[in-house]
Amino acid sequence: MVIERNVSLKGYNTFGIDVPASHFIRVDSLDTFRQALAEPGLPPPFILSGGSNLLLTAPLEARVLYMDTAGKEVLDQDAHSVTLRVLAGENWHNLVMWTLQQGYGGLENLALIPGKTGTAPIQNIGAYGAEIRDVLVELEAVDMQTGEPRVFSNAACRFGYRDSIFKGELKGRYAIWSVTLRLTRSGHKIRTGYGDIAGWLEREGIEEPGPADVARAVIAIRKSKLPDPAELGNSGSFFKNPVIGKGQFENLRGRYPDMPGYPQENGEVKVSAGWLIDSLGYKGHRQDDAGVHKNQALVLVNYGDATGEEVLALARKIQQAVWKAYEIRIEPEVNIL
Ligand code: EPU
Repeated sequence: MVIERNVSLKGYNTFGIDVPASHFIRVDSLDTFRQALAEPGLPPPFILSGGSNLLLTAPLEARVLYMDTAGKEVLDQDAHSVTLRVLAGENWHNLVMWTLQQGYGGLENLALIPGKTGTAPIQNIGAYGAEIRDVLVELEAVDMQTGEPRVFSNAACRFGYRDSIFKGELKGRYAIWSVTLRLTRSGHKIRTGYGDIAGWLEREGIEEPGPADVARAVIAIRKSKLPDPAELGNSGSFFKNPVIGKGQFENLRGRYPDMPGYPQENGEVKVSAGWLIDSLGYKGHRQDDAGVHKNQALVLVNYGDATGEEVLALARKIQQAVWKAYEIRIEPEVNIL
């Protein structure tokens, strides 16, 4: 196990924020992970994965455990489905593309989401009508105190919209080590109802799309709206879409007829934070090197040398403006450290 000191995290977070970590350990096996946890005299552990949902606002005084594991195996399969176990350090999008090459369905709507496999369940990643909870059978996590593994069934993960038990009650208690996914080999469930997927497929002349076609549509749509972190630092949607009461929504709809709203099972309505921010003229807004993306108001970007504090100051300004205009609180989706 190698302990590096004062390591710049600029290349390890998709916002591209340059802060140092006091201690940095690359984890490529369970042995290394346990050794790193048990090492005396170091600051508290911090699990670093793809760094795609993270805003760093200050130097990190922590023993950073960088999840660099690789491996995927087929546990079981028949004519209809396949069960895969994937280690946490596998890049999510590469996994999605690999499953499609094998002819497996289920992850196509989740193509091009940045980050690694192990963090996908923490915020129950979702896009274009699919979420990881739809295909996750169980996951294996390691107790950060004892180093002991524990299996969480899908139900035990308590998934919600951009939420799981690992963001709530068990925050910081477990490191996700592997996920077990069940995908289809035939009878794929094709989801084209969300956003412009159906329109894109029609324009391409694809009448009976398979999973790989849906992935191509998702990739094209995401590329047209969302900045590539390799070119422009960002963390995807910075805010969650807020859920408000039906009364408040109807009231607002009366005043703003084009305001999108998606009714929830409990009668409340999810509204688009992107629309709210956009309506206040923030799309493309820039404050030094921190800004709001020009094509999607939900995404904050780093034009180069923004500090975490600058991005956070912009986020607060937007939260206040949305509150003032609509009396809606929008909360960050991104972890702020
Ligand atoms: N809208 C605007 N202006 C904007 C952005 C959006 O008016 O600047 C409107 C759109 O016209 C549309 C509505 O808001 O009517 C919803 O927009 P969109 O379909 O782009 O989705 P979103 O709510 O902005 C969510 C997820 C994305 C995911 C897309 C597609 C959250 C916080 N974000 O965005 O996830 O890719 O739906 O499923 O739930 C992420 O979490 O990092 C992420 C990118």
